[in-house]
Amino acid sequence: MKRTHSATALTLENVGQEVILNGWVNSRRDHGGLIFIDLRDRSGLIQIVFNPELDEEAFHLAESVRSEYVVACRGKVLARSEATINPNLETGSIEVHIVAMEVLNTAKTPPFYIENDIDVDETLRMRYRYLDLRRPEMRDNLMLRHRVVNTIRQVLDEQGFVEIETPVLGRSTPEGARDYLVPSRIHPGEFYALPQSPQQYKQMLMVAGMEKYFQIARCFRDEDLRADRQPEFTQLDMEMSFIDEEDVFSLIEPLMQKVFKVSNNIDLTIPFPRITYDEAMLKYGSDQPELRFGWEIQDITELVKDVEFKVFSGAIAAGGVVRALNAKGCGSMPRREIDDLGKMAVAFGAKGLAWINVAENELKSPITKFFTDEQIQTLLKALNAQPGDLLLFAADQPQIVAKVLGTLRLELGRRLKLYDENEFSFAWVVDFPLFEYDQEEQRCVAVHHMFTSPRIEDLELLDHEPLAVKARAYDLILNGVELGGGSIRIHRRDWQEKIFSLLGMTMEEAKDKFGFMLEAFEFGTPPHGGIAFGIDRMIMLMARRDSIRDVIAFPKTQSAACLMTDAPSDVSPRQLRELSLKIRDK
Ligand code: AMO
Ligand code: AMP
Repeated sequence: MKRTHSATALTLENVGQEVILNGWVNSRRDHGGLIFIDLRDRSGLIQIVFNPELDEEAFHLAESVRSEYVVACRGKVLARSEATINPNLETGSIEVHIVAMEVLNTAKTPPFYIENDIDVDETLRMRYRYLDLRRPEMRDNLMLRHRVVNTIRQVLDEQGFVEIETPVLGRSTPEGARDYLVPSRIHPGEFYALPQSPQQYKQMLMVAGMEKYFQIARCFRDEDLRADRQPEFTQLDMEMSFIDEEDVFSLIEPLMQKVFKVSNNIDLTIPFPRITYDEAMLKYGSDQPELRFGWEIQDITELVKDVEFKVFSGAIAAGGVVRALNAKGCGSMPRREIDDLGKMAVAFGAKGLAWINVAENELKSPITKFFTDEQIQTLLKALNAQPGDLLLFAADQPQIVAKVLGTLRLELGRRLKLYDENEFSFAWVVDFPLFEYDQEEQRCVAVHHMFTSPRIEDLELLDHEPLAVKARAYDLILNGVELGGGSIRIHRRDWQEKIFSLLGMTMEEAKDKFGFMLEAFEFGTPPHGGIAFGIDRMIMLMARRDSIRDVIAFPKTQSAACLMTDAPSDVSPRQLRELSLKIRDK
């Protein structure tokens, strides 16, 4: 019985027609004389009805089928009576009265219900991923993903971009994370690295004159996994020649607008706001600012640099800063909860968390005793404190203060539901520093990557004040998550060599790792730049999920394992021998 329609293709217009449906038994209800089955296929559900008076054999077969049996059935589409219309079902105003059924396959009882919002351990869902993906919400996520990628391809094609594949077996790329290595059989003792991104290849494609490249590229990074990080993930990777930052923004904004509209009917306003890295770090304590609510952090270093309270003045004397967060309306927070915030702050690296609870007629605080009345009044005014507010203070090095207050801001914002979950708030973060200082390695490291161009006007700072040099880099943030990042690149050999040396690389190392790139830069490299977006993260936010695992068909667990196939796994001694490898200890 070959199907004529998918379940949800049927409407009132088909009433009276004979149709053949194929699918899974979603549920079965035995009502004595009649049997009702919700039949499911990829498109959705439809109710089919078995009546012994219509066909006795089909009716008896229907008595024996169980959930997830695969069936084919033939029957007639009928309109349901007013009273039996199911408004919760897309096909709820019709049903199919079956005259013949064939069981195409039986099924064991699934380990969980095939429905939305199930409360099951994720490991079980990942082990039986093929069942998990039968659940409508998971199917919807994969369909959304398809629509997004499809729209991206269409838009970029219209814009003259060419989709080009780059190798998966490559050379180690220094992009911050650890590489996944693949041993070479033909070259004993040598390894390929899986790409952390196609960064160098796409730059070579610009040297090759391709001008506008994109790829839906798989990237691999052996790093600590989180809800929005997978060891393999997908980027929309792009690169263009003869462009500047504005060209990137004016291409990406309408692209995002179209993708969100076509794939999920979400309207975005463009242009997206832009915020500098310095401002983001100061006001939101993060380079991925969550802008769906206010609560800006304020710097009060100048105000408190001479106060008696040593925690503040001491931190400032040591080169630090003091900043405050006015937790509006949190004045009634019990002491115990404030102490918990303090513990959280310490967990993020703070030495403590000072606070002032602004009550109607008094201030409750462990620190006000160290201040004069006048100092307190100035502080309250600067922070726009009203009765009922809770002021939180951190004093330390700027990065620590930003992290501590930024995280508390987010935590309280989430708890107090200060923003609309359904809002999509995009922003560009611009003017990143080119380098940051890595205390552990005692050297400068690239904030984006080492191919990012410094701002031309900062070139002369490179030698004596490298940490003050700004990069021609940009990140696109959505709801406090980094959706993408990119930059205008260096396209001259001498500048690239200079950056390598500032990053602590010897000429030999640079030649060994990037010789091909330096050489290519001598053969007429056009000025170029690009960007890459995390497709998984984008779909996760669009689908309003908390984890990228929910938008990836076969994701890995937190410990980088696939529970369905049981990867990674042991390999045979013979395979190891062929690769000239020996496992030392496990
Ligand atoms: P970057 O390293 O910022 O830039 O990566 C771009 C985007 O990829 C996503 N992403 C991830 N998604 C899921 N799991 C991960 N482990 C993961 N790591 C990154 C993020 C991020 O914004 N070559 C440069 C881009 C360029 O300069 O053009 C690059 O890879 O959404
Ligand atoms: P102390 O005088 O050390 O007992 O600290 C008084 C108050 O200041 C306590 O509430 C501490 O949590 C807080 N505190 C200590 N160190 C810091 C700091 N670096 N930044 C902000 N508050 C701090």
